[in-house]
Amino acid sequence: MTSSCHWNPDVAAHPALFSDAPTEEHARQVAALRAEHPVSQDPATGLWLVTRYDDIRAVLLDSDTFRPDNALLAITRLSPAAKQVLTDADFALPAMLANNSGPSHAELRRLSAQFFTAQRVEQAIPRIRTLAQSAAGRVRAALAADPDVDLVELVTAELPGQVLLHLLGLDRGEVDLSQLIDWSARSLELFWGRPDGEGQLALAASAAAFYRWIASQLDAATGAGPDLFSVVAAHRDLDGAPLSRHQATSLCYFVLIAGHQTTSQLLATALRRLIGDAEVWRRLGQATDGERFAQACVEEVLRLEPPVTTWRRVLSQPATLAGVDLPAGAELLLMLAASGTDEAAFADPYAFHPTRETKTPHLAFGYGRHFCLGAAAARTEAAITIATLARELPGLRLNADEPPHVGLLSFNAPTRIAVGVF
Ligand code: HEM
Repeated sequence: MTSSCHWNPDVAAHPALFSDAPTEEHARQVAALRAEHPVSQDPATGLWLVTRYDDIRAVLLDSDTFRPDNALLAITRLSPAAKQVLTDADFALPAMLANNSGPSHAELRRLSAQFFTAQRVEQAIPRIRTLAQSAAGRVRAALAADPDVDLVELVTAELPGQVLLHLLGLDRGEVDLSQLIDWSARSLELFWGRPDGEGQLALAASAAAFYRWIASQLDAATGAGPDLFSVVAAHRDLDGAPLSRHQATSLCYFVLIAGHQTTSQLLATALRRLIGDAEVWRRLGQATDGERFAQACVEEVLRLEPPVTTWRRVLSQPATLAGVDLPAGAELLLMLAASGTDEAAFADPYAFHPTRETKTPHLAFGYGRHFCLGAAAARTEAAITIATLARELPGLRLNADEPPHVGLLSFNAPTRIAVGVF
């Protein structure tokens, strides 16, 4: 699918789009829009902004009318030069998981889901605890030398990547984690950012190198091991056919990016908010129910400030949303983050109530057929890491004012969390 919706730099986008302010501010900007125009077209991208909780959930539940085919397309038009760099690397993202409305989705979801089952996540808990403990040790050591340290650098940037490689059976040194993190962050910016011409070319070169590396891992895979590359290389569909080179490489490309960047962003957002509330941080450090309370805090952060702030869909046929008639081919931007503060769905929506009683699920992980496969992993590693840090570093306090945020079309989180101990 090619998109007709690209960011136009000559037109002002809705202020909530690409905002590098905290997600709560983004949600308030969308709330103002929701009051006047629950479904409206953004002039700079041509995307239809869907702002009400009920409308977003209805769209996510109907993947036949509202297809994910445009979910992974670049919002900034790729220049011919950037396209050439990708073509030279034989780079292609056929419909696989989050961008797949076809019959093959179920089988590919099953293939990927084996790495993120509740049992596999459960088995990974001792490893997650060890990683969280050593992260706390890194912070303590850094604070001994410097009254101002960054938790993104010391904790949130790497830990989710280490957990992902463990879940994928790739933690025997075959993957350079800092390279993986750099490649993944640049790919997010290529597809969901607003890079200028030169910047886009550099991002395309990074995505091309990442894609080539995955293809080489798949070529080298024996097909015997339990790791991602071996399992994908060995996969055969019902007719006994293997995945094509593009299918296998893009499946791994998506999982290797989706599997840690968003969780790093969740952890950064959560730590900034929880350390910023001394009473909450104190309670999180309690040995008795620290981890269970951390789970409740993570859910409340996912409702209020989820890392995936928006997600796209395209209409396969005309439809009406909030009284607005939309033609086939119309492209939607589901304001996931703002749905968590929709008064029609959540009482006292901007209040941080970890113990709030609600039967209404937030939409941070999507809803329906494409519900996030990594939700259990993300929740578990976030809760354990937060509780461990609070227990080991009860005196942590935020140092600086508001750090810059990522500010991509669909992703947002603090890029730095400066802390000290008081
Ligand atoms: C806080 C962390 C995370 C958030 C907020 C998040 C959010 C999302 C969202 C919004 C979707 C799209 C749902 C849709 O299209 O309806 C999604 C899909 C997906 N996520 Fe996550 N995700 C997170 C972590 C992870 C992790 C750790 C993994 C593990 C690899 C993962 C793997 C996936 C996959 C494979 C899909 C595609 C599912 C499909 O289309 O069938 N995510 N995620």
